[in-house]
Amino acid sequence: MGSTGQSHPRNAQHLSNIAYNVRQTWANPLLKKLEDQARVPMFGDNPVELGMKDREDLLLERLENDPDYVSKFKAAFPSDSNPLSILNITKALSSFQRTFISGNSAYDRYQAGDLSALSASAIRGKNLFFGERGECFHCHGGFNFTDTILHLGTVFEEVTFHNNGLDSSRFVSPNGGLYEFTFQESDRGKFRAPSLRNVELTAPYMHDGSIPDLLSVINHYTNGGTGDGTTNPNRDVFVRSFSLSESEKQDLVEFLKSLTDTEFTTNPKFEDPF
Ligand code: HEC
Repeated sequence: MGSTGQSHPRNAQHLSNIAYNVRQTWANPLLKKLEDQARVPMFGDNPVELGMKDREDLLLERLENDPDYVSKFKAAFPSDSNPLSILNITKALSSFQRTFISGNSAYDRYQAGDLSALSASAIRGKNLFFGERGECFHCHGGFNFTDTILHLGTVFEEVTFHNNGLDSSRFVSPNGGLYEFTFQESDRGKFRAPSLRNVELTAPYMHDGSIPDLLSVINHYTNGGTGDGTTNPNRDVFVRSFSLSESEKQDLVEFLKSLTDTEFTTNPKFEDPF
């Protein structure tokens, strides 16, 4: 819900490791830089998030009246004759967000050689996740558990969106996904595969929060989708029904939980400073 009470069609995403995103948000193929994304919640009017459209002066005035912000902006932008500007606000927000680095989950420690960091169940789940039965890694692969990442040495920016088989009633405007930008029916229901880091903590799931918990997400995938999503021509080929025993489903959930990084989630640097 936005600051003026307008409810939103989208589930808010977690912000771990967004510095590596090739594109921001669930489905916008154009929104590349965090600096540009920061303008959306501030000034967007469809839907209203922070509701600052046409109130730029008020926004600046509020910050100018706070001596703490005045001195900090001066210190952060020393060569700027006007340090407190909308442009610098977006730069400051983005620089802060780029420090949200999560890389010390149990899974990361296991990868770094601490074989005791993962339970036997989580290791079985990892093998399902990266195996040809689960197929999860095709879209949630790499160090950030998504197929669209940008890092030093990236040669080619891969920008991909997938329909992962949700019921078609989930793709009605404004939740058509990539379709909202291309107006191609074949893009309806295609979204960016989100990073699964810290996913245990970010229920509910999917672009519209329509799946309540991780076990239900697993059931969605083993069924090859939800509702009429299983027969949707846009559904990705890697989303297809497959069988898992109840204990294998638990293993997969255990693996997803091993991506929780409490060092990151309890880092005092990210606490509310006020
Ligand atoms: C074809 C690509 C693809 C495959 C294969 C795939 N996913 Fe996804 N996954 C997505 C997309 C796209 C979304 C977001 C869809 C939406 O919100 O409409 C998503 C969402 C999720 C979410 C919710 C994340 C959140 O923050 O809301 C979880 C959890 C998840 N997938 C786990 C898995 C697991 C486990 C597997 C393997 C069984 C898997 N995925 C296979 C593309 C894929």
